[in-house]
This record gives sequence, C-alpha cells and structure tokens, in this order.
Amino acid sequence: MATAIAHPNFALIKYWGKSNHLLNIPAAGSISVTVDKLTTETTVDFSAGLERDVAWLNGKQVNDKEMFRLQTFLNIFRKIAGENRRAEIISSNNFPTAAGIASSSSGFAALSLAASSSLGLRLAPDELSEIARRGSGSAARSIFGGFVELVAGDRADGRDSIAKPIADENFWPLSILIAITSFESKKIGSTDGMNLTSETSPYYSAWVESTRQDLPQMRAAIEARNFTKVGELMEFSCLKMHGTMLSARPGLIYWNAGTLEIIEAVKDLRNQGHEAYFTIDAGPQVKILCQEKTKSVVLDALDGCPHVAEIISTRPGPAAYLKES
Ligand code: PMV
Repeated sequence: MATAIAHPNFALIKYWGKSNHLLNIPAAGSISVTVDKLTTETTVDFSAGLERDVAWLNGKQVNDKEMFRLQTFLNIFRKIAGENRRAEIISSNNFPTAAGIASSSSGFAALSLAASSSLGLRLAPDELSEIARRGSGSAARSIFGGFVELVAGDRADGRDSIAKPIADENFWPLSILIAITSFESKKIGSTDGMNLTSETSPYYSAWVESTRQDLPQMRAAIEARNFTKVGELMEFSCLKMHGTMLSARPGLIYWNAGTLEIIEAVKDLRNQGHEAYFTIDAGPQVKILCQEKTKSVVLDALDGCPHVAEIISTRPGPAAYLKES
C-alpha cells in the first residue's frame, strides 16, 4: 500500500488535441505551472482478496465508465510489475473535482506514484511522467513542480512524450489566483472535447501549428522571468484554444457569465496600470497570474465581481511525492 500527494497544474501554453488516442500522445507540447495548496491525495492497495478494481473519489464510489479508464490505467503498472492482484484506490481532492481546476492532472499524477510505489516499482520521474500522460495528458506535467514542459515527442510509442522541468517552484514566486464561478462538474470532459474539436474544427490544424511556435517563446520568457511576455503569451494560447473550441461543430463553450466578467475585470486592471493576465481551461473558472506587488489590487477587483463564488490564492508548487506512512 502507498499514498501519494500531487498538485494540479495550469497550462500557460495549452494542450488541446491528441496525435494518438490509444497512447494519449498530445499533438503539440504544452507548458504549465504546478501550484501549491491544492492537492490530490491517493492511496493504492493491491490486494489478493479483491475480485476487481474499486475506487473511491471524495468518498463516493467511482462509476463504471470512469472505472474502466482506471482499470486500463492500472493494467500498465500490473504489466510492468508482473502483477495480477486487483487494487483499491482511495482518492480525495481538497478542491472542486472535474470543474476546470485540473483535477485530472493531480489525480493521475498521484495515482501513478501511489500505484507504482505500492507495487515496489521505483520508477524515475520521467518514466512516471510518461505513464501519467496515458491517464491524462496534463498529469504528465504534475509529476514535476514549478514550471514544466510536456514534450510531444517523435516516437510512435510515445516513450519520448514526457514532461521536463523548466524551473522549480522557488524560481519565481508568482501569484496564481483561482476565481471559481461555478462548483458544477463540466458536462463535456476534456477527451471528448478535444476529439470533437480535432474532428470538426476548421481551425484545428492552425491551432496545433501555432502552439508549436509558442512553446520556445514561452520557455524563453519563463527563463528570463519576463512577466509581461509570459502573461501575454498565456492569454494568447488560452483565447486561441477557446476560439478553436468555439469553432467545433457543435461549438464548445466552457465559459459562463462569471468567466467573461473576470476577463473584463483583468483587462480593466491592465488599463489602470496593474499587470495581471488570465487563463481558462475546460471549465468556467479563471486563473489570474500576477506578481506579489499587484496581488491585493487583483483580489479587490475579483471581490467586486458578483459571479465570483470563491478565490483560491496559490503560488508555484512542488512535485508529486510519497506520503510516509
Ligand atoms: O489532461 P486533460 O485531458 O485533462 O486535458 C487538459 C486540457 C486543458 O486543461 C484545457 C489544457 C491543459 O494543457 O491543461
């Protein structure tokens, strides 16, 4: 039995679309920041007494569709370890699940570490990252802390599609404020949303191509601690991704009225000379990036947004780790 803790990450350059569905290889790379404070804690116990895998998420038993995904994922570890036993997974998040706060990133990162450790496998972080990617693309990035790049890779088997750290969590103490506008789970998960987009959007190939061009620029901007460049590129990637989703058939809209309200508030702040930038994933929540010196004015502006239900204040956070028992 082993317990692991992982933190979610938010993409600065987004991943939206796969080149291989079975192996979950992304069509383009992506860059993210892992955050502190938000956690997924997962315990995995392989036991001879179990007839099938079972999982509990936030105290509720996982449904058959999700269970199939988890079983398939656990099979990867069983195969490496030559193991037949079934497992019990107990996992909980200290933040809303499946609502666009990247719960799958921390979820599959924590599960990868807990499952491999409970089978006595001592996998290197990049091996873990490669496996975590097969559970959820963004999970490959949460194996590492701080600023991280998931490389698309060239190999057909996906072995080189792994995350690599750009800079650790102490490199740049930025504030990442998460403004929650709804606690509901999203209706269309990221895999279905990506598939719909890649199959139907006339803009999809341009999205993939331009993301490839954004990556070296974002990497350089992070390394130079160029806040304006990081913020500008982050918004560009976010709005491009949502523009591509909007052009799917039927169009995919993850935003609500609160999302737009916050976008306006962030733009107003910039017009007043307070540098802050937004990003949005597959859900209506908005993440705002700012420097420590602007944090209080951003928080005041968010307080003035009627649709903001909660604000979580985070910073770059650590890699996934095992909890000592
Ligand atoms: O890892 P997934 O399948 O949950 O997809 C993540 C998709 C986005 O959060 C919208 C973008 C990203 O790069 O994290």
